Amino acid sequence: MTRDEKFRVKRRSARRDLWRQFSSIPALPLKIALLSAYIAGAVYVQGKQEAVDAFMETLILPAPLVEAICDNLLRSYLLAGVIAFVVLLVYPFNRKMVTDGCLQIALTNNAGETPTLLRVRRDKEHPRVKIWELNNPSIPLKMWEDKQLAIEAAFDINVVSVDFGKSTSRIILKFVPGRNVLPKHIVWEDEYLSPDSFVLTLGEGYIGPVTVDLASIPHILLGGSTGSGKSVLLKLLLMQSLHKGAEVYIADFKGGVDFPPAWHERCRMCFEEDDLLELLTGLADELERRKKLFGKVGCSNLDEYNKVSKTQLKRLVFACDEVAEILDKSGADKKRKDQIGLLESKLSIIARQGRAFGIHLILATQRPDANLIPGQIRTNLGCRICGRADSILSQIILDSTAAADQISKEARGRFLLHDGTMFQSFLFDETTTLGAGGNSIQA
Ligand SMILES: Nc1ncnc2c1ncn2[C@@H]1O[C@H](COP(=O)(O)OP(=O)(O)OP(=O)(O)O)[C@@H](O)[C@H]1O
Ligand SMILES: [Mg+2]
Repeated sequence: MTRDEKFRVKRRSARRDLWRQFSSIPALPLKIALLSAYIAGAVYVQGKQEAVDAFMETLILPAPLVEAICDNLLRSYLLAGVIAFVVLLVYPFNRKMVTDGCLQIALTNNAGETPTLLRVRRDKEHPRVKIWELNNPSIPLKMWEDKQLAIEAAFDINVVSVDFGKSTSRIILKFVPGRNVLPKHIVWEDEYLSPDSFVLTLGEGYIGPVTVDLASIPHILLGGSTGSGKSVLLKLLLMQSLHKGAEVYIADFKGGVDFPPAWHERCRMCFEEDDLLELLTGLADELERRKKLFGKVGCSNLDEYNKVSKTQLKRLVFACDEVAEILDKSGADKKRKDQIGLLESKLSIIARQGRAFGIHLILATQRPDANLIPGQIRTNLGCRICGRADSILSQIILDSTAAADQISKEARGRFLLHDGTMFQSFLFDETTTLGAGGNSIQA
């Protein structure tokens, strides 16, 4: 596009913007009402001129400005109307700042046009959240998403969401003003426990608690480099699962340092790989058993079954803190490869069918190895959470480099959810907070 063409496009857009600005202020009926009131006001003011003149004569030495206004009542009224109109046109007042910011971060279309701010309002449901409605000059949503970090830095905000408005020519940008508004430490309180079964609270996001409903997204893949807070978050989820009456199974090949004795009393722990195959086989068998049970009574999921059946079935949660330890085939001999193949096949059955039968996987990893978790298991781990990570690990967990880009190197307990929600997970005292739970499955 030549400079002349760009200039012409910009001039036409500026004219259109001016009209849009006016048309976006109030709705049409309100505009007509305002205009009618304005005209009626003018007629009224004109009618009062004589009375005001008579009043002015009674005053000794009125201020020159007051005198001028009173002498030209109608003109002053009309002038005030024009000023109000112009103010409405330039509203919202930080339009220019937004345009400049977009230019600085190259958030423009091919003709170099930037989005323009049309309206600013507060989110009624979340008072901390502000909403910008912007005119979008054919900038793809992907570009808005890719530039999220730059937008946050340019306007000193935390983006909560960015989406099209009524049409693709409008963008709705929700944000919380100020950077890094999430606290570095949030201590768990029992009141954070969600009353809904089987909703687990992950942490605190910009607009409130961030949760995952295992009844609809049954399995979780949790990633992050060492020290990012994976184990703390994993245990937070398991603690809530216990509180909600689930049976928890933990594979821990790190010598038990992450799971003190309080866990051993409440959960079925597994420290040996041979044990693990037995455990996963038990879970896969339980899945088959439940499948037959549900089939007999014509139920399609655990909640339905528990409603109609006298015996209640518990949800079963299997957690592995470093899944790379059990699935890594590099350097393995044939016997071990076969063993890993068996583990994979059991995990795969649970990953594919676990949702309906209330059997869940929470797998954590810090290894940036794309081939470690077989595709069939990976695609069924619908809830993806990534803490501080390099771009390879972030790509593996979230299918984007967002965690590497958005979470600082010092952050602990700060995570990004697959839908782009940032949150700070809770810290809790595992010696006092663990709820009663049981373990009955025969492996
Ligand atoms: N939610 C949190 N809020 C504040 N600090 C946290 C949080 N989670 C973890 N931390 C801090 O980070 C430290 C490391 O956490 P954690 O052991 O969970 O990391 P990790 O990702 O499991 O590391 P590794 O991969 O080495 O096992 C904790 O000892 C704690 O001090
Ligand atoms: Mg850990």
